[in-house]
Amino acid sequence: MSELVLKIADLSKTYILGKRDVRCLCDLNLEIRRGEFVAIMGPSGSGKTTLLNIIGCIDKPTKGKVLIDGIDTASLSESRLHKIRRDKIGFVFQSFNLFPYLNARENVELAMELSGKYKGQRKQRAKDSLSTVGLLGREEHRPNRLSQGEQQRVAIARALANDPAIILADEPTGNLDAKNKQEIVKLLANLNLTKKTTTIMVTHDEQVGASAERILFLDNGKIQNKQTKGRKLLAQE
Ligand SMILES: Nc1ncnc2c1ncn2[C@@H]1O[C@H](COP(=O)(O)OP(=O)(O)OP(=O)(O)O)[C@@H](O)[C@H]1O
Ligand SMILES: [Mg+2]
Repeated sequence: MSELVLKIADLSKTYILGKRDVRCLCDLNLEIRRGEFVAIMGPSGSGKTTLLNIIGCIDKPTKGKVLIDGIDTASLSESRLHKIRRDKIGFVFQSFNLFPYLNARENVELAMELSGKYKGQRKQRAKDSLSTVGLLGREEHRPNRLSQGEQQRVAIARALANDPAIILADEPTGNLDAKNKQEIVKLLANLNLTKKTTTIMVTHDEQVGASAERILFLDNGKIQNKQTKGRKLLAQE
């Protein structure tokens, strides 16, 4: 298994809006090793979500290579991309994106069902995954019976369910109050330390970004040279 879980080479993304080209990412290069916890920061509109969507095979680059676990995704068909999205990537969104009519366990199980993985053990795996994120005893609660922070924990348990190569989190603390923000960042940092889950997190929040191992700044379509050492866990209250 290659040590590099993600390699991006000369990636460009230009959106075409009517007759106008909107250059978003421009000859961007990036390498992420297995087990790293990386934060991506940068001004609004700098292309952070676009980059995450391309890594997550939700969007395609205009040019360049994106290798996930050694597979070049830029040239794959939609059905192969669908499989990579399902099997290699765990998504965590700002707005949780849980199914409101399914309880916490069912939300996690659904991810395994869609991937066809772990038949016969899904219920137990979902419970274990929820226990890992600190939600023991909350398995049967629907999202509207859970706090915002607990809902994000369910989303993280769901992202972990298929044992993905990479967790992609776009502003995972953006909708949370200060206490929940701390808890979710600590959870992501601890999962990375204990389970060695490769995590790429986009955030506007400097404190949140500082909990990662490496902080990358995206600006003018590129990762800027300024790369800061992180791993400052949020201060205890
Ligand atoms: N589907 C699209 N069509 C056209 N332009 C787009 C599209 N999606 C994004 N853009 C443009 O690309 C640029 C980068 O957008 P993106 O959402 O990736 O930025 P961001 O860094 O995530 O911003 P924010 O911090 O506000 O979330 C912006 O100028 C945006 O307007
Ligand atoms: Mg964004």
